[in-house]
Amino acid sequence: MITTTQLSQFAIDTMEGLRKPQKTMMSKYFYDAKGDGIFQQIMAMPEYYLTRSEMEIFQHQKDEIFSQVCPKGLPFNLIELGAGDGSKTKVLLKHFLKMGIDFTYYPVDISQNILKELVAMLKEEIPELDVRPLHMDYFEALKHMEQFTGRKNVTMFLGSNIGNFSEERLEEFLIKLQGYFKPNDKLLLGVDLKKDPDIILNAYNDKPGITASFNMNLLDRMNNELGADFDLHGFKHYAMYEPVTGEARSYLVSLKEQVVRLDELDFEVAFETGECIHTEISKKYSVSRLKELSEKCGFVTSKNFYDTKDYYVNTMWEVL
Ligand code: AVI
Repeated sequence: MITTTQLSQFAIDTMEGLRKPQKTMMSKYFYDAKGDGIFQQIMAMPEYYLTRSEMEIFQHQKDEIFSQVCPKGLPFNLIELGAGDGSKTKVLLKHFLKMGIDFTYYPVDISQNILKELVAMLKEEIPELDVRPLHMDYFEALKHMEQFTGRKNVTMFLGSNIGNFSEERLEEFLIKLQGYFKPNDKLLLGVDLKKDPDIILNAYNDKPGITASFNMNLLDRMNNELGADFDLHGFKHYAMYEPVTGEARSYLVSLKEQVVRLDELDFEVAFETGECIHTEISKKYSVSRLKELSEKCGFVTSKNFYDTKDYYVNTMWEVL
């Protein structure tokens, strides 16, 4: 008999998700060591324009971003939620240091593996940077916001990470985050904008199948960590984009009637042909919806930075 005290959070969430009438898996579980590697490949693919759009904004508008972040030249804490491999953030980090400002960088990530890579990269490329990594998810990070006292706080949530929240959960998160904000603190969000639906769909349904392998890795992970016997040929990656809600959605669809056993959970789950596991939402926003969101959560927008194609925005928020 398995008791929940013996189970990992991944095991508990998997069992809960696969028992729902509409089966789901949380997208945060994409990011094991293999998933981190596949996500780096996604960011490098031509179809995944988000990375290049944000990079272009940082490279071309870093002076203006800096003057918004640090108008008075005072020391600050720079907290980055979901820091990942830091490939784009390092453009800002180098620039902020060049401006001679004293700041401490707190990258937060759920993946221990990617945090280690990030810290090693920063040690190599920006040895003078004061880095204090925090291994936790976004909601845990919120509980730590109280520790960032004494200095102005600049929080960054880049890479369209907010798109992976449902709107309800995002509002809950931003309202809590706002509760820790003092006047002069800043929030810099990276947000993918609504646009031609085909451009968006392509980013989540690339022909070479890199995103498919990212999604399918969840099955691999359950096989490896939970003793499951998912037949990887029995499922396929399916992505769609819904232009009204702005949601790109990813699914794993069962191609046959099958029963999968998860040994570690002593649990069996049946799939009908065509039945799917919903694995991710990557929500896109309009500029007007973002403004509404900032106001609803108690922020004001101080400045929007766009890429040259207007595919993406880095929006700077504060409280009054
Ligand atoms: C991390 N996150 C913002 C990515 C996104 O675009 O939703 C994850 C991803 N999923 C498929 N491709 C990229």
